[in-house]
Amino acid sequence: MPRFVSAKPDSRLIPLPWGTPLAEWPTEHLVALPRGISRHVVRFIRVGSSVYAAKEIIEHLALHEYRLLHDLMRMGTPSVEPIGVITKRVAADGTELDPILITRHLQFSLPYRSLFAAGVKQDTVSRLVDAMVVLLARLHVIGFLWGDVSLSNTLFRRDAGSFAAYLVDAETGELHDVLTAGQRENDLVVARTNLFGDFCDLQAGGMLEESLDPLHLVDMVETRYRELWAELTGVEEFSGSELGRIESRVRRLNALGFDVAELDIQTSDDASYIRIQPKVVDAGHHSRRLLRLTGLDTEENQARRLLNDLDTFRVRTGQQHLDEAIVAHEWLTDVFAPVIQIVPNELKAKREPAQLFHEVLDYRWYQSQRENRDVPLTEATHGYVNDVLRKLPDEAMSADALAPVEGRHLVDPYDPSQGFIEAGDQEPPYDPWEAAAKDAEPDTGGGFFDVAALRAQAAAKEASKKDGKVKRSVAAKIRAEADPAD
Ligand SMILES: Nc1ncnc2c1ncn2[C@@H]1O[C@H](COP(=O)(O)OP(=O)(O)O)[C@@H](O)[C@H]1O
Ligand SMILES: [Mg+2]
Repeated sequence: MPRFVSAKPDSRLIPLPWGTPLAEWPTEHLVALPRGISRHVVRFIRVGSSVYAAKEIIEHLALHEYRLLHDLMRMGTPSVEPIGVITKRVAADGTELDPILITRHLQFSLPYRSLFAAGVKQDTVSRLVDAMVVLLARLHVIGFLWGDVSLSNTLFRRDAGSFAAYLVDAETGELHDVLTAGQRENDLVVARTNLFGDFCDLQAGGMLEESLDPLHLVDMVETRYRELWAELTGVEEFSGSELGRIESRVRRLNALGFDVAELDIQTSDDASYIRIQPKVVDAGHHSRRLLRLTGLDTEENQARRLLNDLDTFRVRTGQQHLDEAIVAHEWLTDVFAPVIQIVPNELKAKREPAQLFHEVLDYRWYQSQRENRDVPLTEATHGYVNDVLRKLPDEAMSADALAPVEGRHLVDPYDPSQGFIEAGDQEPPYDPWEAAAKDAEPDTGGGFFDVAALRAQAAAKEASKKDGKVKRSVAAKIRAEADPAD
């Protein structure tokens, strides 16, 4: 009898066919969604309106990953949410099956292959790299050694004009109090190797713009990581007359989206010399402020954009003297909510509300520039819905990304790792009767008994029993030998 380990049990999971190897699950339980390359059998399963990712994996790793993901969630690090582990799976014939780790499908997430499939610009790659670097630094700040940094183990969500990266595979992870420099270097080496492979792979598939060089991209990851790390944790020393530098360090960190929870300030005895070092930094400076003010839970850059709009609203309505929380409530009901309400229900799966609002603001800005007037938000929202949103693919569950790329189709839509059907496979299956009929004509058409041709036909029939493709070439070879003029 299968056993469920879960902090958040979903009883709808209980009747699923746990006694069947995941790779053989009936498709009625599955959803075809894009995903990265994986070592294990991974499927997306649907129960009611929820979608979960299921991964078949040996017991100690399943439990290890489940617990680590749990810790990461608790510490507010962007990662997929663990739901449970199903152990003690036994097939009908008594064979023991590996446990299954269940995580919640990360809504609006895009595996990198879907992002690249449409061809990305240099600028976009640079934003993806930044998102990846921020994720790695955030994990290192809390003492998480990833061990398997790669594009396939990362999911991306839109975050205003940028991306936010989420960790998806924690199987190799370790949580420490603090990471040593050596441990962080180790993650960087792994990141370089894996990302170089991922980028080369994209290049080979024609999905990387020609001007982008894999080696240059991994160098960029490393440089940016080192810069960010230095800003987050580095020691700064200055003279006692430059006290403003304490505040500017905090502001710079805020601008990067981090809050300083603890700043270590040391002064020399005569206060002529000061040394500062951030001790504890927490990511999500803007998203926390927005959450506190409005209850909206968004990505960092979306929060930045929404807060800017809120600040503008405050000035425009002359409410600077009022408490920020009161104005925020008014902004939420009078500005934000009406925009979201305009979007027809059938288009809501295309973008998260905060992302949508950000895109409407962009749309309004461009329209106002073009038409040289202040376009009202409602008008811009209608324009955005009709001109932009209707044409976009769904991203809530971006199955659209599985649509044939340049006419290519997946071998198994529930298992994108099997790749695409190759051109050769699309030929109709070999039909020995039809082939024999075709072969018969030229070979016997000479009006005499052609032994070589008959032998060729016999060989062709024999081989057709084994394998259509092999047989065809064998027959062709025998025929060519028998009748060189053919
Ligand atoms: N919760 C999830 N939400 C969205 N995608 C997921 C989720 N879990 C896994 N995936 C997708 O499945 C792929 C493989 O999962 P992963 O845990 O990396 O398996 P493996 O350990 O075999 O590498 C990922 O690259 C990701 O695209
Ligand atoms: Mg993986």
